[in-house]
Amino acid sequence: MAPSRSRMTLLPLLAAASLLPSSSWAFDCKEVAASGVHFDFSKLGGPHIVHWEDEDLVHEMQYKYNFTVDICQKLQWDKGGSQATECHHGARVCAIREDVNLAMDRNSTITPIDIAGTYKSYNGRDIDAKFELLRKSESNSDAGREGIRAVLNGGRFPFDDKKSGIDQRAIIEFVCDKKRTGLEGDEKDNGDKEDDNDDDDKKEEKLRRREESSKGKCEDSDASLRFCGYQQEDGAKDKKIQTLRLEWRTEYACEDAPPPDGGSHWGFFGWFFIIFFLAIATYLIFGSWLNYNRYGARGWELLPHGDTIRDIPYIAKDFARKVVGTVQGGGSRGGYAAV
Ligand SMILES: *[C@@H]1O[C@H](CO)[C@@H](O)[C@H](O)[C@H]1NC(C)=O
Ligand SMILES: *[C@@H]1O[C@H](CO)[C@@H](O)[C@H](O)[C@H]1NC(C)=O
Repeated sequence: MAPSRSRMTLLPLLAAASLLPSSSWAFDCKEVAASGVHFDFSKLGGPHIVHWEDEDLVHEMQYKYNFTVDICQKLQWDKGGSQATECHHGARVCAIREDVNLAMDRNSTITPIDIAGTYKSYNGRDIDAKFELLRKSESNSDAGREGIRAVLNGGRFPFDDKKSGIDQRAIIEFVCDKKRTGLEGDEKDNGDKEDDNDDDDKKEEKLRRREESSKGKCEDSDASLRFCGYQQEDGAKDKKIQTLRLEWRTEYACEDAPPPDGGSHWGFFGWFFIIFFLAIATYLIFGSWLNYNRYGARGWELLPHGDTIRDIPYIAKDFARKVVGTVQGGGSRGGYAAV
């Protein structure tokens, strides 16, 4: 064997590694990670809505917000939706604000506000998702909480106003709660309410709720996904960022959460075997081609280590004979063991 050929075994491995999925453009709700801890939020996918009402008594206006979040994919427009009533394509967090004029016979207008998303086809703004474990957070109020905080960017309002548009973002805290899937009290996009049917937990639930509402500033609600604020906050470089804060209590935010679907464990081994066989195949093909071109090899000689491969049946036979011999030998000795 020429020594030059053993060096190329690495090449197919490298080639196969570059085929692995990468998630640089956005984030994958199945594979959210911070500080080496992984979470799978795929069960929380789909559009979920929270509401908020605000009033401006000076101007006699009332603002009714519907915030829609889909952490797994971009939001879909309703049938017959238009840019006047929907966020731009690519939004994952969207607010629909209804401005009610209390003075003028309560007539109202609808204003969509892009809060977070990846808007490739508009202005290139990106969701630029950032994740942080609550227990690694510097804030005191996070002490003793288990879960992960997601910061999702990309929005602006007015969306097309580069100069005076106000940047938007959503900060979602996924908090570990082993008793919740995260869909309790959920309101789907179509306005249906899922009913709470675990009565036995009601009392405990109320106690817990009181405890929590005294601690946090989130709305007092039994729903797993809760509104915690929508205000201007200071961002980098003294820029104001209108920030939607949500809290999502769910078992999937627990660090020891079981994977939602049992089938995903062998993902690593699946990849391992695919790469392994690709590597072997590439090695054999490329090696044969080299042997053919360089040495004019034919038949068995084409394969790298062709002589070894050809010998495998004999080696196997030899091995089998030895094993059989040992077993038979052991059997005859077993004769006196039985005495
Ligand atoms: C209410 O209606 C008037 C007249 O139709 C309109 O000019 C005004 O913008 C409306 N106000 C709101 C808050 O939609
Ligand atoms: C907000 O949601 C409620 C309930 O789902 C719905 O009745 C209302 O029309 C929505 N408002 C807007 C502005 O979409």
